[in-house]
Amino acid sequence: MEWNTETYDHKHDFVFKYGEKLLDYLPAHSNKVLDVGCGTGELTAQIAAKGCEVKGIDQSNNMIQKARLNFPKLDFVQGDILNMSLEKGEFDTVFSNAVFHWIKDQQKLAEKIQQVLQPGGYLICEFGAQGNINIISQAFSAELKLLGKTYRSPFYFPSVSAYTTLLSQNNFEIVTADAFSRPTFLKGGYSGLRNWVQQFFAADLAKLDDATMVLDHLEERLKSDLWKEDHWEADYRRIRVVAKSVR
Ligand SMILES: C[S@@+](CC[C@H](N)C(=O)[O-])C[C@H]1O[C@@H](n2cnc3c(N)ncnc32)[C@H](O)[C@@H]1O
Repeated sequence: MEWNTETYDHKHDFVFKYGEKLLDYLPAHSNKVLDVGCGTGELTAQIAAKGCEVKGIDQSNNMIQKARLNFPKLDFVQGDILNMSLEKGEFDTVFSNAVFHWIKDQQKLAEKIQQVLQPGGYLICEFGAQGNINIISQAFSAELKLLGKTYRSPFYFPSVSAYTTLLSQNNFEIVTADAFSRPTFLKGGYSGLRNWVQQFFAADLAKLDDATMVLDHLEERLKSDLWKEDHWEADYRRIRVVAKSVR
């Protein structure tokens, strides 16, 4: 999926603004950091500002081009984390905000992170947890059903126990793991929900003959739950994990 970086930086900037809290979990001794799914590079730059050497990688060409424009002195590489050739043990920390839920093959991802980390290195990540955007997804699914279509979520939203089990099976020791609700203000007034759906459910909308009609119906359906007088509030849930490589 490609990203519209203008929309991302101006309307969905909450993603990296919330992600700033994750920076507090970077170990003080972090030195060489891989930022997986760096997007437009905002958090990558903040990692660099802490004195770390950091490489930002992202599979989206648009995102990498914008990151390079935003932060020309930093190292950004385009590619899918699962298939990139990265040196074994190249990093002491792998950092990632709002990315892992997009990745289907979580076993391969855990192996890849383990491979690029030095023994004793840290994984610091946050992404969608079990129950994330349930209300929006159910409403979207109901709208597709009316059109005779089935919504299949592309996302991996695990429980804390499912994700920590996966990491433990891949030679990580869990330092901290938590899931929490984070109702999220969507910018743009009444258009905020449709702007968000157009970015995050882009693949499903692209398959519809009349996406505008679905968006109109979705707003009607979600109004009572998620419209808060002058803005939409998305029903986000996050999982935040710090884990240490113990191989
Ligand atoms: C919501 S954005 C988050 C960007 C950034 N981390 C931030 O906090 O602003 C998710 C990013 O993950 C990237 N991404 C998704 N799957 C990926 C993969 N397999 N390898 C690398 N990047 C990926 C997307 O291209 C997108 O830029």
